[in-house]
Amino acid sequence: MQLLPGFRDFYPEDCARRNYIVATWREVARRYGFVEFDGPMLETVELYKKKSGGELVGQLFDFTDKGGRHVTLRPEMTPTLARMVIARERDYKKPIKWFCAPQFFRYEKQQKGRLREFGQLNCDLLGESSVAADAEMVALAIDMLREFGLSGDDFVVRVSDRDAWKAFLDAHGSFDEAALGSFLQIIDKIERDRPEAVEAKLAPFGISLEAVRAFIADPGTHFERFNSLAAELDARGLKGYYQLDPTIVRGLAYYTGLVFEVFDRKKTLRAVAGGGRYDNLMNAMSDGKSTLPAIGFGMGDVVLSELIEAIPVAAQKMKAWIAQRHAADVYVVIANDARRIDALGLVQQLRGLGFRVDYPLSSVKVGKQFQSAEQAGARFAVVVGDEWPQLKLKTLATREEALISPDELPARLTSVVHKTV
Ligand code: HAM
Repeated sequence: MQLLPGFRDFYPEDCARRNYIVATWREVARRYGFVEFDGPMLETVELYKKKSGGELVGQLFDFTDKGGRHVTLRPEMTPTLARMVIARERDYKKPIKWFCAPQFFRYEKQQKGRLREFGQLNCDLLGESSVAADAEMVALAIDMLREFGLSGDDFVVRVSDRDAWKAFLDAHGSFDEAALGSFLQIIDKIERDRPEAVEAKLAPFGISLEAVRAFIADPGTHFERFNSLAAELDARGLKGYYQLDPTIVRGLAYYTGLVFEVFDRKKTLRAVAGGGRYDNLMNAMSDGKSTLPAIGFGMGDVVLSELIEAIPVAAQKMKAWIAQRHAADVYVVIANDARRIDALGLVQQLRGLGFRVDYPLSSVKVGKQFQSAEQAGARFAVVVGDEWPQLKLKTLATREEALISPDELPARLTSVVHKTV
């Protein structure tokens, strides 16, 4: 039986890595005052057809359900978030600062950094249109990555502004929203497409590739929002983590002004995160009832894992976190099976106090039990045997051992395992 292409099995070691990533996302999002929410895995296709637009609609994992509804596994969170906020906008004080970290599905061709099922952190701030909100979101994206042990040498936030491109287009004629969307798609692919192909696509706009290139090379005063953002980020000590890149325009249709994507410095991976302002989405989805401006970003776990693995400091940090969280504190070695009942009482008592405790389920040679203790990553072994009612407490790394009474054990372990009992 084969795994479906683009899907992943999560063996314990994969789950451990995912736990680390999601726990770190949660920790940093909460530091910035964001609260967690979630929505349904299945949505109507309608939700994305109108709002996400672009490539995403062609990547929907859609089907007809037994009730005849055209539904899809969620490919992204933003339209769901907008729907949820519109429904209960008055219940929440502004700005609304929400995050989530669930699974998403896109029917893409499986390749490096691209799967059909992936985890994605979303952080969104609604109800604030100032550049202060933009800076908060970019700083959050940076701090997320710094928390994984990544530095400005490893990644960079590339910032742009769709409004600047709109002004550029307006200077060349009168174009509607749909034309702006098509134009931005050309800019989006300008680095990848052949120059002749770009020229051909620009022709209907009466704009030359040379004019576009000149604008990119000398964006001048068009990127004022970027300049204000830069001042805010520098004040936070984040110089060196971001740069202006006019070619970043984002593929999704709902973005309005400031947009950004985060890339590894070597640019060997696809974007690890992307986001921007979507000031009109709430308005469009609520037929004018909600006018909340918004900004947010998504960060994918697939590319992030690749980046972490490629940077030794980050990989080491992840390994240490996993070892600390997933290892047993204590392995109870039953050296004399006649004492099994006493050992079980001890195991249960220690677990009740919050320690992670493992022990052999059947009679096993003592040497084998110590091997199991090592495999479980235990720091301590407690040997229950002929010395009962005394126990041997062994520190496995140093091989130190001490004879103690069962009553003393919890306090001794608490002092070294740093648990409050
Ligand atoms: P997005 O650029 O489509 O934005 O996705 C954000 C990140 O999710 C990407 O940079 C990438 O790391 C990851 N990602 C996307 N598709 C896949 C895939 N097929 N396999 C692996 N990773 C993937 C959005 O989704 C926006 N809704 C983000 C947002 C939130 N904008 C405002 N708020």
